[in-house]
Amino acid sequence: MLILLLFLSLFQPAHSSCPEGFDLIRDGECRGEHGTVYACHDESIKLAMDQCKEIQGQPLSIHSEEDQTYWSSRASDWIIMGLLCNSITQKWQWMDGSAVDYKPRTPSDDKNYANTLNNDCTNGWTWYLNSTGYWSGGHSTAMMDSHLYCTVQLHPPVPAEDGCVGFDDDREDGECYQVGEAAETWQEAQMNCKLLGANLASIHNQQENSFVRRLAASKGALNGVFLGATTSGKGTDYGWVDGSTWDYENFHQGFPMAGFGDCVAMDTSLSAGQWMNMDCSSNLPVSCIRDQKPVVIPTCSAGPWEEGTIITSPGFPYSASTFCDYFLAVEVGKKVEVEIIFLEANSCCDSLLLYDGYLGAPVLANLTGEQRNVTYITTSSNMMRVNWQPNGGVNVRGMAMTFRGV
Ligand SMILES: *[C@@H]1O[C@H](CO)[C@@H](O)[C@H](O)[C@H]1NC(C)=O
Ligand SMILES: *[C@@H]1O[C@H](CO)[C@@H](O)[C@H](O)[C@H]1NC(C)=O
Ligand SMILES: *[C@@H]1O[C@H](CO)[C@@H](O)[C@H](O)[C@H]1NC(C)=O
Repeated sequence: MLILLLFLSLFQPAHSSCPEGFDLIRDGECRGEHGTVYACHDESIKLAMDQCKEIQGQPLSIHSEEDQTYWSSRASDWIIMGLLCNSITQKWQWMDGSAVDYKPRTPSDDKNYANTLNNDCTNGWTWYLNSTGYWSGGHSTAMMDSHLYCTVQLHPPVPAEDGCVGFDDDREDGECYQVGEAAETWQEAQMNCKLLGANLASIHNQQENSFVRRLAASKGALNGVFLGATTSGKGTDYGWVDGSTWDYENFHQGFPMAGFGDCVAMDTSLSAGQWMNMDCSSNLPVSCIRDQKPVVIPTCSAGPWEEGTIITSPGFPYSASTFCDYFLAVEVGKKVEVEIIFLEANSCCDSLLLYDGYLGAPVLANLTGEQRNVTYITTSSNMMRVNWQPNGGVNVRGMAMTFRGV
């Protein structure tokens, strides 16, 4: 149970995604509407703060012309702004403590709010924005209904400086292993490891095999664990999904056995930790592996890519700022079907482009923001170019996808 809890907490960091109905805009900031506030001016800002806090957010702040344009376009009526009076300096400031470094342009005959913003502030005054871009302060006991918008900041996982935080350390070979909860499918198993910045485990010698077997047993996984190997359906040629060399195997006598499945699992009930091929949809816990030192500068890998593997943007899920081009090919005569399993990109700046072919082909999809489990198929080509084009990629995790021929 403890292990399961540990895993759930690793899979679901404080803000694993934007709250429902929110858009991911820039630098990992989600923006969206969160009900209304009915209160007098003196109370509105306090209620707004409390309501946004329910989703770990805060009322909107405006630091640039771009923010001003964005929020004015959202304001069908007056919406509450996150300006607070600093009781020590008696100056207005944003809720996160940042200074009022942007002020809306005012018509020359209306100095009202510019002055109010510059003057010493009064507690119990709430600021509102309307669709014309006006900022208006209110300080009265009249009740008023206003729309509430909040912003919520995403925090992608932070790679451990060193060592195997959250993982078990096999000191002898410098690798980190973990055994995770059972997944519905092989693909989900891969994804569970990828979200931890890891891969399904590959095993290269008897010592690693023993380590994984002991780890699995110590976590109560005595009915077997999935390893990171498949046949890709073509005979008994096995390969590791992390791309490492097939230089060791420990199959149970008689295995791999034709017709028993294309994935590989370890029998953890016996100390020898022997392997069997299994149906990929078997419900088994998964073993994940990652290097002790996470990649510092992510690099784009040129492939080639196998159908069914989970492909992620460089540095996933720790960083998303490295450009990468992926060329996906399937058998001649088939079309490429790509499933975007996970996309977390800033809609201001980062995009994922899917081409209906590769050179000179039209764009099939131009994706950004948050996407889960969306599928695209080429019109006729057996190739697809997928282009991860971050423009900053700040505070987001990037992309994970897979593909197959159809
Ligand atoms: C926004 O407020 C200003 C100042 O009160 C007003 O002149 C303007 O008409 C308002 N715009 C809308 C769309 O209500
Ligand atoms: C993709 O969409 C973004 C806006 O979200 C746009 O700036 C960009 O030019 C588009 N790219 C292509 C190749 O269509
Ligand atoms: C992804 O979508 C397909 C159909 O669009 C559905 O059959 C499948 O169950 C979905 N998978 C997940 C993990 O949501």
